[in-house]
Amino acid sequence: MKEIILQTKITEFAADELPEDFRKLADTALRAAETAYDRYSHFQVGAAVLLANGEVICGSNQENAAYPSGLCAERVALFYAGAKYPDTPVCALAIAAISEGRQVKNITPCGACRQVLLEVENRYNHPVKVLLCNADCILQIENAKSLLPLCFDGGELPGASHS
Ligand code: THU
Repeated sequence: MKEIILQTKITEFAADELPEDFRKLADTALRAAETAYDRYSHFQVGAAVLLANGEVICGSNQENAAYPSGLCAERVALFYAGAKYPDTPVCALAIAAISEGRQVKNITPCGACRQVLLEVENRYNHPVKVLLCNADCILQIENAKSLLPLCFDGGELPGASHS
């Protein structure tokens, strides 16, 4: 028998310890949460994507009476970024959420969003830093892959080009 232990490095930054562009990105994610269409969950999520060209693209969760037809903030932002700048790598994704008037602690992307994030990371062969935004600090995860251990990245599909 052999045990395999997987570890994820998370760096906690006080708000004033973050580099300026990431601090701004966190603020932008929080502001984006206020644009959520959260009619059913009353849970507002905002995402801000920093691209390699310096552009920032925002998204918020968009819900639907047929619940699965809605989409998370992260995918709204990532898909829009991919549609607007198909040739530009994504450097970072900040996520913030508001519930009952308060900023949620350690909001993290759902499994489907992690899978989409992984695809973006592999597509551009560029790590995507993930910032989980709190009122008093930010947790930074180095890349999408570390949020999805034992991931399926399509490497086994016929004709796949990435590992
Ligand atoms: N949601 C997000 O937008 N991102 C997350 O990381 C977690 C959940 C949304 C989906 C749904 O609109 C609401 O939050 C409640 O699950």
